[in-house]
Amino acid sequence: MDDPSSDVALPAVCRRRLARRLLAWFSRHARDLPWRRTRDPYQVWISEVMLQQTQVATVIPYFERFVARWPDVLSLAAAEEQEVLRAWEGLGYYRRARQLHAAAGVIAEQHGGRFPDDPAAVRALPGIGRYTAGAILSIAFDQRQPILEANTQRVLSRLAAVRGDVASGPVQRRLWELAETLLPARRAGDFNQALMELGSEICTVRTPHCRDCPVQTECAAHNAGLVEQIPAAKKKLRYEEVQEAAVVVRKRGRVLVRRCPADERWAGLWDFPRFAVDALEGPPLDAELTRKTASLTGLTIEPLKRLATIKHGVTRFRITLFCHEAQCSGGRLRRAAGEMRWITPEGLSDLPLSVTGRKISRLLADS
Ligand code: ADE
Repeated sequence: MDDPSSDVALPAVCRRRLARRLLAWFSRHARDLPWRRTRDPYQVWISEVMLQQTQVATVIPYFERFVARWPDVLSLAAAEEQEVLRAWEGLGYYRRARQLHAAAGVIAEQHGGRFPDDPAAVRALPGIGRYTAGAILSIAFDQRQPILEANTQRVLSRLAAVRGDVASGPVQRRLWELAETLLPARRAGDFNQALMELGSEICTVRTPHCRDCPVQTECAAHNAGLVEQIPAAKKKLRYEEVQEAAVVVRKRGRVLVRRCPADERWAGLWDFPRFAVDALEGPPLDAELTRKTASLTGLTIEPLKRLATIKHGVTRFRITLFCHEAQCSGGRLRRAAGEMRWITPEGLSDLPLSVTGRKISRLLADS
């Protein structure tokens, strides 16, 4: 079923009409988004990285704060990674922020601080894949470069009635090919954004608004009555339940925080000592907290009380996090366990924390 070969080839006249209609629609209906008011490749880059895996409405305030604080490549390159992570806090997928900062360093050193317009140089930057490179080059430099992401995947597979699993190799290849052949000679950036806009506002996953679609008559799925079947439904994600504990270890008015090393989920961010637990409560959990805190940090603790139970989801994990308070009763911080700090609860506001770490810090501030 992943063979896309039975889809519809779009002849050149049809392609030109499609581009004309889509661009005219976009000129009238494009949402006024902050990154659309500029063609500065730096700002387009920041917005496109933030928009990977994150909704437009969430990105807007982050984008505005970010470019106000670091208005160009050189200012970002001069920032501390920790500051960049703090500004990213809440957006998730923190690797994006670390790579953005690393790429700013590369552009500063190798390109004199000017964002490159050569596709190979753009692709060589940390964190920039085919999609992001295509988006920046087309939007900021008006190069005829295709893009493919969640929205355009759906739009293109409907336009040409491409069947099969969109994540499969053959279908991906076909969709990239369509994304490239449909690109008009001029306004490639607007065309790419128009495809995304159509996917986000009209050609939605469920109950698409075909009556309002500017390219309804060009759409093979619509003409064949297949809009509901294309693209094929994704396989359901299987969730895994996990239990973890976070321990707020107190000593003389300070709390212990640990910087998550590169191989952990919140790499680069700070968090309270945290680990998976088997016990749910009572003395068995206290014993487990004591033993695992000692093994992670080198400290001995006296568990005091539960602060909260937080439920949250990260990728396919559904995490129940027991947040406990404990008093440090001895021991020495293990240097080998990574960077750890005793910090006042107020000092937590300057550190980039994991989402649940920030929730716990708010609980501490409120209590
Ligand atoms: N998603 C990814 N890039 C986008 C853009 N430039 N405009 C709106 N949504 C997007």
